[in-house]
Amino acid sequence: MFTNLKEQPKDKIMALMSQYREDPREGKIDLGVGVYKNPQGVTPVMRAVKAAEKVLWELESTKSYTGLAGDPAFGHALSDLVLADSVPADRLSMAAQPGGTGAIHQAVELIKMASPDATIWLSAPTWPNHPSIIKHLGVNMTEYRYFDNESRAVDFDGMMEDLKGVKAGDAVLLHGCCHNPTGANLTLPQWKEVAALIVEKGATPLIDIAYQGFGDGLEEDAAGVRLIAQTVPEALIAASCSKNFGIYRERTGLLVGISDNAQQAGITQQNLTHLNRQNFSFPPDHGARLVTMILEDEGLKADWMAELEEVRTGMLKLREQLAGELRARTGSDRFGFIADHRGMFSRLGATPEQVEALRVDHGIYMVGDSRMNIAGLNEETVPILAEAIVKVGV
Ligand code: LMR
Repeated sequence: MFTNLKEQPKDKIMALMSQYREDPREGKIDLGVGVYKNPQGVTPVMRAVKAAEKVLWELESTKSYTGLAGDPAFGHALSDLVLADSVPADRLSMAAQPGGTGAIHQAVELIKMASPDATIWLSAPTWPNHPSIIKHLGVNMTEYRYFDNESRAVDFDGMMEDLKGVKAGDAVLLHGCCHNPTGANLTLPQWKEVAALIVEKGATPLIDIAYQGFGDGLEEDAAGVRLIAQTVPEALIAASCSKNFGIYRERTGLLVGISDNAQQAGITQQNLTHLNRQNFSFPPDHGARLVTMILEDEGLKADWMAELEEVRTGMLKLREQLAGELRARTGSDRFGFIADHRGMFSRLGATPEQVEALRVDHGIYMVGDSRMNIAGLNEETVPILAEAIVKVGV
């Protein structure tokens, strides 16, 4: 039987991770996978997470199953962080997921069940696992213009032009904040226009929010999602705690459904629960429990927010520094977009050959489309990167 198996395409980001690990060079710089690193190159366990784990170790009295949709307290705490009071609670349904990826997978399955002929519209470019999951689940997809390679900003006119082709029953995948891989984001007035178009077309937004708190702040980063939530009758929101709680390996995420009314929300809830049961039964609980404890405890929450803010402002400083170093070396402001972008990533705009030269000649690893993880830098490595960018001729 296994002889029928064909080799699967390699995930570019995962392949780059192994390539970096195998590189024996000292001073190599990893700007690949989207994992936060502090200036010492460590991905720390956040203080509030450690504190919650201590309490949990003392108090947890059972490892028995929670609910199929996870602990409802987790759903309420995380959906509140994302949506605040933008939607009445009785229109919400939710199910805990193994990470943001699990939430996306389940959302696509739900779309397939509800609207088998749906096309899912993806930004060009998007996180490579989006099209990969959609293809795996056999759902139609197409792209809308998003990034202008010249200005390295959102091509909003192109986006709106393309989204005019959306049909009723389709889904439009949007990045809630900190667009991956480009770092270029919609303004609030642009979110408003997108929301109006989606309503006009009778489509359903699927919002991937994996970096809340990494861009302009916890509230600011959720503003677009909340605006959509207030405007549309139906939406799906895939939220991840991997990055903003730094609990990558705990696989902690949530899929939230917004339905038109309470009765429909009940049916959506049943379907989300059913999908969990079919795919993995009970979702992982450890990370979800830590997040709930942090969000429900004033002291822990304040400490988590303070540390997240340090992470966010640290990345902003690195952006400013890199844009400044490049300004000094090129005598132009053509890399100013790096300071304007938000979140963990910026798409540099280098050719595949230049990305390869950065890796081979300078030991600098970024994804082939020239996505760089800003959090992989520190004050000392920023000038090294700037020098290399100029040397390879970007
Ligand atoms: C990334 O984009 O690098 C992260 O979201 C990690 C992943 O799973 O690809």
